[in-house]
Amino acid sequence: MNYIRQTIRALKGLTDYALRDHRKFYPWGFAMNGQTSRLEAVRQIIYAAGINRIIETGTFRGTTTEWFAQFGLPLETVETDQRFFYFAKARLSRFSNVEAHLDSSVSFLSKRLSHADRRDRILFYLDAHWENSLPLREELQVIFANHTNSIIVIDDFNVRDDTDYNYDDYGPDKALTLEYIENSNLPPYCAFYPATPAKQETGMKSGWIVLTPEPELAGVLRALALLRSI
Ligand SMILES: C[S@@+](CC[C@H](N)C(=O)[O-])C[C@H]1O[C@@H](n2cnc3c(N)ncnc32)[C@H](O)[C@@H]1O
Repeated sequence: MNYIRQTIRALKGLTDYALRDHRKFYPWGFAMNGQTSRLEAVRQIIYAAGINRIIETGTFRGTTTEWFAQFGLPLETVETDQRFFYFAKARLSRFSNVEAHLDSSVSFLSKRLSHADRRDRILFYLDAHWENSLPLREELQVIFANHTNSIIVIDDFNVRDDTDYNYDDYGPDKALTLEYIENSNLPPYCAFYPATPAKQETGMKSGWIVLTPEPELAGVLRALALLRSI
């Protein structure tokens, strides 16, 4: 039964792709929810920090993955839902630097990071939260335990002093807030909010945060005008 349901979802994904409906390719306008200030900030992070590998959790339609792909860096993205996975896999097939995976984010990160090259400077884009699925705490714990040479961008995150930014809240201890991170038993890290006020941001105005466990990388982030230290 489960097999049949999954096969139907996979076929739906391929049908979505074949029909070429623009709204399925750009559900929120563009990559990163259509937020131009965030797109520029992440572009600056990639170049200023010398990022050489990108990992996204929560592929969905592959909209942000496709934007990341244009940097030409090795890029992996992971998705649990067959419909979205097969859609994105077809969409991203023209990029030789992109690997799309069908898996849960925590299982994928555990497998990948246990034998990653410590010299790799990885940008993580954590976006696998959705309809009561909130693997963020475990994702962070796996990253902090295995790969500190990294910068972590989390989508849909509360910006404490800017209530015009939206964020995900799935109930007690399931809201994407600083308290949630503080209760995640992580080693020391530096954190940054967007410097652009939500009122001046475009698109969905979804909040975000940047974390790094690596002091040298924190110095790089501090120099970027589109970020501010917390
Ligand atoms: C908010 S959407 C991602 C949007 C996408 N990153 C973008 O910018 O266009 C969240 C996606 O995460 C997926 N997801 C939910 N839980 C997951 C998990 N544990 N592991 C991997 N993907 C997951 C959902 O199926 C959904 O497609």
